[in-house]
This record gives sequence, C-alpha cells and structure tokens, in this order.
Amino acid sequence: MSHIEVLIPEEDVRARIREMADAISTKYKDQSVVLIGILNGSVFFLTDLAQKMTIPIEIDFMSASSYVGTDSTGKVLITKDLERSIKGKHVIIVEDIVDTGQTLHLLCELLRAKGPETLEIAALLDKPERRKVCCDADYIGFQIPDKFVVGWGMDYNQNYRELPYVGVLEE
Ligand code: IMP
Ligand code: MG
Repeated sequence: MSHIEVLIPEEDVRARIREMADAISTKYKDQSVVLIGILNGSVFFLTDLAQKMTIPIEIDFMSASSYVGTDSTGKVLITKDLERSIKGKHVIIVEDIVDTGQTLHLLCELLRAKGPETLEIAALLDKPERRKVCCDADYIGFQIPDKFVVGWGMDYNQNYRELPYVGVLEE
C-alpha cells in the first residue's frame, strides 16, 4: 500500500503560481503570449497559471511521453502536435516538472524550428539533481529534492493527478 506525504501544500502552490503569473504578465506587458501545455501533467498548473495572467493569452497543447512507472526511458515520443502556428509569437512552454531535462530539451528544439519570436519555459517543479541534459526553465515554482512526486497534475501510472497538493509517493 502506498502512502503520500504532503511536500508542498495547496496554499503554497497557489501563491507561487500567482507570483509566476505576475512575473510573466509583467515581462510581456502590452503583448500576448501562447502558453503551450505539455499533456497530461501540466494541465492543472496551466489552468491555474492562465487564470492568474493579466495579459492576453492563447492556449495550445502538445503531448510527449517519456515515462513508464517511475523509470525514465530516456526517450520522448510526440503523440500530439500543436493545432496552430506559433511563428512570430511569444511562446511559453508550460511543464509540470523538469527532471532529467530530456523532454524539454527535445521540445525546445522542435518548437524553435517553428519560428516563434521568443521561447521560454515555465515549470512548476524542478529536480536539479537529476539533470542529464542542459535545460533550465525561465520560471520555476519550486526546486525539490530527488523524490518521485504526484499531485497537481503529476501521476504515478496515471493515478493521483487530481490531488490538490504536491506529495511524495512512498511505497
Ligand atoms: P524529463 O524528460 O526527465 O525531464 O521528464 C519530464 C517528465 O517526466 C515530466 O514532464 C513528468 O511528466 C515526468 N516526471 C518526472 N519526474 C516526475 C515525478 O517525480 N513525478 C511524476 N512525473 C514525473
Ligand atoms: Mg510531463
């Protein structure tokens, strides 16, 4: 039976996402941005972030899969691409967590090839100890230790995404 220990409570996550939304809205004042959510993990972070932004936004999604269980396969598979062009636009990739960095590294390359005006990354969580490839987010919610986390969109075999906090899964 697995047990989930609260790592970051709901109020702290919400407060931090507000700060991130403010930082992005300030940086792109009088402009608009396209938020690209990486399915499925980013959905809760993206909706919360989007509702707190004070500039016009567009939302699109991509799907990239790189994990089976808690084990990284080191491969990224694009299973859903963008619906609209991002050429000449200010684009922010919205991701739940940067772990080895491999997913975002590849996604950045793919998206850069589509000719955005600017490309940045917003990640709710960052596990710097696990990094294998150079990939730093421009906006980071929290840096966390090398623990497998669930909740706020993040899953273990598709479970626990709905938990309204970030928790550590302990077997
Ligand atoms: P990376 O390519 O190793 O950086 O993996 C990034 C993806 O792996 C994230 O977008 C998550 O979907 C997933 N992932 C990495 N660490 C965790 C975790 O602790 N819990 C749940 N999913 C994770
Ligand atoms: Mg993900």
